[in-house]
Amino acid sequence: MKHFLKETDFTQNEAAEVLALARDLKQERGRNTPAVLKHQTWAMIFSKSSTRTRVSFEVGIHELGGNPLFLNKNDIQLGRGESIGDTARVLSRMVHGLIVRTYDHAEVEQLAELGNVPVINALTDFLHPCQIYADAFTLAERWTPPGGDLLASLKGRKIAFLGDTACNMANSWILGANLFGMEISLAGPKGFEPSAEFNTLLAAESKRLGLPGKYQFTTDPYEAVKNADVVYTDVWVSMGKEDEAAERIKTMSPYSVTAQLFAAAKPDAWFMHCLPAYVGKEVTQDVLDHPRSIIFDEAENRLHAQKAIMAVLAQQPRG
Ligand code: CP
Ligand code: NVA
Repeated sequence: MKHFLKETDFTQNEAAEVLALARDLKQERGRNTPAVLKHQTWAMIFSKSSTRTRVSFEVGIHELGGNPLFLNKNDIQLGRGESIGDTARVLSRMVHGLIVRTYDHAEVEQLAELGNVPVINALTDFLHPCQIYADAFTLAERWTPPGGDLLASLKGRKIAFLGDTACNMANSWILGANLFGMEISLAGPKGFEPSAEFNTLLAAESKRLGLPGKYQFTTDPYEAVKNADVVYTDVWVSMGKEDEAAERIKTMSPYSVTAQLFAAAKPDAWFMHCLPAYVGKEVTQDVLDHPRSIIFDEAENRLHAQKAIMAVLAQQPRG
């Protein structure tokens, strides 16, 4: 059973297939969308807030002919202590796929191991792979001539990731950059280097798939954005880190993406942010509104990329 818990759950060839399918689905939207989820129900178990992920999955499942079933963790018995294993086994008897947003990454792994339907990681504290595929598609759309190879357009490009360089988005972009053949440079405060747990995963996945397994980390934001094709940031206070808010905002303030910092990247660099954005913290309003800010295209592309991911996972025979 194939799942999508991390970027490298798809090989480079499969990632190329997902990107190409996302492009087709975007072009066909509202006209010839294939009903690949017809007569299927996909459950969405969410333990954290969401705007983009929830709406894009609900709309996407519906557009592919299926039925989305949104389950707030606190409304089901999982929130009262029923085990992950029993939840996985019960839901696997009734639904055709699980989409899960939670804190502990081990939860999505357990659901995948103990159930027998595809599981999609809709964000954990560790990784946010759906966002990365949507982001990669958003960039590839811009860098690919009509009908060209989307994945090839990403090769050799440099992304700079600023701010909370130990968060799920930073981890996910490191894995994604390695898979897509991009260079990644992260700039954040000392003490916010990617974790040992993440480095172990990166090393193992790189060995398995023959990827470089590299990233640069610096405390100097100007060093990171130098020659960058993309400047990326994320909220400094991720969901679950609210207790650390004041300290994080203070420590990360040198990494705010201002117009001056953005101007130090390549002259045609794109600005990206997975959203939600906190203006005056990780990014200034003028950068969010910049002609080279593509934040709302990336938000829209969550829909197209996730439809492609679900379509690929739904093709496999059921156990
Ligand atoms: N970017 C993202 O995942 O947004 P939501 O938290 O609104 O789903
Ligand atoms: N790092 C953020 C991403 C939100 C989409 C969080 O986990 O809250």
